[in-house]
Amino acid sequence: MGTYVITGSASGIGAATRTRLEAAGHQVVGVDLRDAEIIADLSTAEGRSDALAATLDAVTGGIDGLVTSAGVGPPFDAAKTLNINWFGTEVFLTGLHEALAANDAVTKVVAVSSNSTTCNPNVPAEVVDALLAMDEATAVAGVEGLGEPAACSAMAYACSKTAVARYVRRNAPTADWAGAGIRLNAIAPGATATPLLQSGLDDDTMGPLIRGFPVPTGDFGTPDQIAAWIEFMLGDAADFMAGALVFVDGGTDALVRADSWPVTFEM
Ligand code: NAI
Repeated sequence: MGTYVITGSASGIGAATRTRLEAAGHQVVGVDLRDAEIIADLSTAEGRSDALAATLDAVTGGIDGLVTSAGVGPPFDAAKTLNINWFGTEVFLTGLHEALAANDAVTKVVAVSSNSTTCNPNVPAEVVDALLAMDEATAVAGVEGLGEPAACSAMAYACSKTAVARYVRRNAPTADWAGAGIRLNAIAPGATATPLLQSGLDDDTMGPLIRGFPVPTGDFGTPDQIAAWIEFMLGDAADFMAGALVFVDGGTDALVRADSWPVTFEM
């Protein structure tokens, strides 16, 4: 049985993933603000550094996989959204890389991104670039200059999730990752019934926007519907999978941007 680290293990998608992995007999090291093996606040640099150190201490016996699910969504503060969703993800992807590579077996990473990466228009590319360059000041200034707090928050969310997806696409096929026996992939959920989504639904500005967002299959997803895919992406079936961004969103991405992917290209 394996050992898996899950950030954001106390609620929603992370908790549902924990339930599945434990039911299958695996050991889970959870990282969260509460109800976790490692209590940590990923919104600050110090909190992230402490969380990584404690996690590395907890997995000295080896690690088989990582799921980065900790996150917040609009109307949460824009700067903190960037810190938790991007910097709080990057620190685990980068910080656990060596431990993942050290396993003789193929290890798996599932980064929780979002369909806001493709369904949210006008995401500022310069903010995404700043995040990937680890330039927090430029990224925060970029989102905080976008107008009303709700707009800043929603855009910070999309920027953070796009940076996560791009990190995965850039790194997954490299010698350091695929070549080192690590399968790095991302999942892009659509609206999923969790406390995070509820906080948006309860907001006067975000609520109507979320309810107006089309979900072709009908209802919001459930945390377990996303966790089932994450579990699959941690398993043997993903040995031949690297750099994928898997949309599990009731068809929203396909509806909004049917022809934008796949695209042909010339050489
Ligand atoms: P959730 O609110 O149920 O769970 C998020 C978890 O992250 C919570 O346990 C929370 O305590 C933890 N967390 C938040 N701030 C933290 C901090 N500063 N330090 C440490 N842990 C912190 O939300 P949900 O929906 O399960 O979210 C999981 C992931 O899925 C997030 O990354 C979210 O962006 C993503 N996602 C969610 C969607 C949805 O509609 N629910 C859609 C697309 C992506």
